[in-house]
Amino acid sequence: PVGAPDKALAKKVQKVGIIGAGLMASQFALLFVRKLQVPVLITDLDQARVDKGLAYIHEEIGKLEQKGRLDGDGANRLRALIHGTTDKSEYADCDFVIEAVFEEVGVKQQVFGEIEKIVPADTILATNTSSLSVEEIGEKLEHPERLVGFHFFNPVAVMPLIEIVKTPTTNEAALSTAFVVAKGLGKNAVLTADAPGFVVNRLLAKVMGEAARAVYEGTPLLTVEKAFGPLGLPMTPFQLIDLVGWKVAAHVQDTMASAFPERFYANENFHQLAELPQVVDKDKNGKVTGWTKAAEKILKPAVGT
Ligand code: 3HC
Repeated sequence: PVGAPDKALAKKVQKVGIIGAGLMASQFALLFVRKLQVPVLITDLDQARVDKGLAYIHEEIGKLEQKGRLDGDGANRLRALIHGTTDKSEYADCDFVIEAVFEEVGVKQQVFGEIEKIVPADTILATNTSSLSVEEIGEKLEHPERLVGFHFFNPVAVMPLIEIVKTPTTNEAALSTAFVVAKGLGKNAVLTADAPGFVVNRLLAKVMGEAARAVYEGTPLLTVEKAFGPLGLPMTPFQLIDLVGWKVAAHVQDTMASAFPERFYANENFHQLAELPQVVDKDKNGKVTGWTKAAEKILKPAVGT
């Protein structure tokens, strides 16, 4: 059980570092710069990835301008606050650094190991892991007490929730800062235990996994989708899988299955789907209109065929 954090202990965040420049990282960068109005740094392995991230951010700022949500000055101010580089030494003056790199404990441990050599001992480190153990991610840190889980949901700009995850070593400053930052971002934060899948992915893995299983067991994919409609959820299971990405969804599924083999199964068909670049049909606006025969065929039950 964990108590409410003491906001007075929060560290003032004057510069944010984001590790990675992929789609999640770029969405974070935009949100941080819009809501906190502080310099935000993104880095990646090479300049091409950094440039791709920056291009996405600039495009999204342009869209906000077109929608009238930002005037020209405001848009330019945001552009000026975002900096992308491959030079990690620029994290040195960041107060809050969040990673959005590949979902593998070893990769996350390695990037935090590098960052820890650059930042001061009281810089807060946050991981956006969706289901890995935050404690394990921090295992090799010299100061694991400043590591906290900070789990966003897709699409980052819209989804109101952040799961904040405390490990047995997370200190009050890290926890308080995480809550204050989440509030500054306009999100509702909930404190969860450092258990596989935290809360949300534990539930989503059930929905996604059972939906895939239902198709595997013979119900047509579109029927599963239609059956969900009357429940009134904003997205059907396969739309959700498509939104978070097949690979991410399959990874969450695997993490849950290995943590709780008696309650979750790693569905091999689900993994085959993850290998397909495109399994949904979309209209010209990118809206999902249906699912390809390829997906249905892959999910068809082997039994009786
Ligand atoms: N980026 C930025 N903004 C987006 C966006 C995106 N990718 N997608 C939608 N939006 C914005 C739109 O611009 C629009 O904003 P506006 O009203 O200010 O113009 C607003 O969201 C609503 O969009 P639309 O009208 O186009 O569409 P919908 O009303 O159908 O809403 C949705 C879209 C918000 C994505 C809604 O379908 C929804 O809530 N879906 C559920 C998403 C969900 O459950 N996410 C959690 C995934 S799990 C996860 O991320 C965890 C991970 O660890 C696996």
